[in-house]
Amino acid sequence: MADDRTGSIDTLLHEERRYSPSQEFKAAARWNSPAIYERAQRDPDGFWAEMAKELDWFEPWNKVLDWDVPKAQWFVGGKLNASYNCLDRHVKTWRKNKAAIIWEGEPGDERILTYQDLHREVNRCAATLQRFGVHQGDRVAIYLGMIPELVIAMLACARIGAPHTVVFGGFSPDALSDRIQDSEVKLVITADGAWRRGNIVPLKENVDRALKTCPSVRTVLVVNRVMNATRVPMDEGRDHWWHREMDHSGGTCVEPAVLDSEHPLYILYTSGTTGKPKGLMHTTGGYLVGTQMTSATVLDIKDTDTYWCTADIGWVTGHSYIVYGPLSLGATSVMYEGAPDHPDKDRFWAIIEKYKINVLYTAPTAIRAFMRWGSEFPLRHDLSSLRLLGTVGEPINPEAWVWYRKHIGGDRVPVVDTWWQTETGMMMIAPLPGITELKPGSATFPLPGIEADIVDDRGNSIPLGGGGYLVLKRPWPAMARTIWGDPDRWKRQYWDRFPGIYFTGDGAKRDKEGYYWILGRVDDVLNIAGHRIGTMELESALVSHDSVAEAAVIGIPHEIKGQAIAAFVTLRADETRPHKELIEELKKHVTERIGAIARPDKIFITAELPKTRSAKIMRRLLRDIAEGHILGDTTTLADPNVIQSIKLQYEERE
Ligand code: WTA
Repeated sequence: MADDRTGSIDTLLHEERRYSPSQEFKAAARWNSPAIYERAQRDPDGFWAEMAKELDWFEPWNKVLDWDVPKAQWFVGGKLNASYNCLDRHVKTWRKNKAAIIWEGEPGDERILTYQDLHREVNRCAATLQRFGVHQGDRVAIYLGMIPELVIAMLACARIGAPHTVVFGGFSPDALSDRIQDSEVKLVITADGAWRRGNIVPLKENVDRALKTCPSVRTVLVVNRVMNATRVPMDEGRDHWWHREMDHSGGTCVEPAVLDSEHPLYILYTSGTTGKPKGLMHTTGGYLVGTQMTSATVLDIKDTDTYWCTADIGWVTGHSYIVYGPLSLGATSVMYEGAPDHPDKDRFWAIIEKYKINVLYTAPTAIRAFMRWGSEFPLRHDLSSLRLLGTVGEPINPEAWVWYRKHIGGDRVPVVDTWWQTETGMMMIAPLPGITELKPGSATFPLPGIEADIVDDRGNSIPLGGGGYLVLKRPWPAMARTIWGDPDRWKRQYWDRFPGIYFTGDGAKRDKEGYYWILGRVDDVLNIAGHRIGTMELESALVSHDSVAEAAVIGIPHEIKGQAIAAFVTLRADETRPHKELIEELKKHVTERIGAIARPDKIFITAELPKTRSAKIMRRLLRDIAEGHILGDTTTLADPNVIQSIKLQYEERE
């Protein structure tokens, strides 16, 4: 399990470096006494109720938690609205003219939306959605680059109680179509294009292709982002320009819908262990409680801070920590449209200097790329405004952690490594920067109110010092409630392996002091540059190509991305083209089926795949070959010669 780190984990557990918060940081931190852990443990429901009081409720709840495995309801009977909590309540205070979103486009254009501005735009968008017949409960898909309209659209959906499903702009038309069909979307919001490294991502064109197989969609709203750089065909009757419709809505106010705490806020698709992505459904009350609390306490965002999370809103990190968490807190959230190396490799540092960013939340993959590019790029800029750094998405190796602290944080700021998932909605295992003594590479401890454990195959807790499966033993407010349209899969996937306990799919170890060290996935899910991609999804994309008979996909260690995709394929008998040409074609094919993030790094064409006598592909052996290890046990292999021949071909190509 967890191939990348098991080898080195014992070294990790001997990590000697420690970093404690400075007195100054501690004194100012939102939480600075360890008593908070004990308070939460003594009375979890009371603790969560206290956290929930930070939100504005139209009607109070009558029960904190109703738990009937695997169905959770939080703040039962409570009524609220997410857009009200992110906007209206701030507009009534001094925050009215505070920047809610500071946005920088890749070409260097800039927009700053105050809470009042955002409130106005969201209202106009909500009115527009209503005009196109979107009602409470209808689903809206949002397929945009990182522009303010993305946030406006999400909050407009939340305002009228229409669950949104944001699809990452890097996904292909096929992937978009699958998601739209699965959640039976009524209206799609997209743009004429998005900027990426100076090129245009043809979003609208992709939507046109996707919608050929999506009969439920009646309307497409098109944001004019790339201006006159490209002309997109508009389907009369179906497609409408966003700016015209927004103008049409004038200064309309749309009362925020009074929604049940358990009303669906959004559906977000993520890869699992089957070929079909699953739509995790998040609801309103508990999700906001969890994301707001962790924004306030782990990221320690204060009213005086300028905060930047570099994730794309197409992933859960952007949902929770660009939009809902920071905005419900009344924070200033920075958004950047483009690539970190455009026009040069110092773009992030230029942004930090320009806006005097105080809190930065990014991913290990990005940090490893920065390390590789060299410290001369951050050195070009004044980064002294930074007072807290965070990371998320994959295990961070201690070298990258220490580099981040030293070269970006000036060796003086805390680094919070936060473990969580699309399913958890909120950070679960993470330091409290005013309390926790940090060890580089460790996500440290479960947050107050969160009960994690590490168990063996039979669900028995493993003593400190050992490793096993990471599980969560008590429900938490921001947890997903189900898989959209597939409650059985929700139960099977997460709650049956260890009955009544949530199985994360990750492996982890705990050192003698109880620090958690996350090892990575133990299932057939890869983590490529912080993006989850199922091996089955990749394999079905490969076998959908006419030339491919069978495919097996594994993750191989990668210096920057953490993991890279390696595919072993066998061809149909009538395929005679040169392998080199075919390999390029297959890489392109996978990109078209899923998106550029899924493009295999290596494809090996082999005569056969190693299989057990019951015809199961032995991925373990493929991994051993790819990593150049001595082969494991091959006695269960139907034909042991297969391995030798694959190995030879692999080595030839390396
Ligand atoms: C991995 C992203 C180690 C883990 C928020 C998890 C991490 C998956 C960390 C979820 C971390 C996330 N340390 N591994 N700090 N954070 N992961 O759903 O394998 O895109 O199960 O959510 O990323 O990925 P997802």
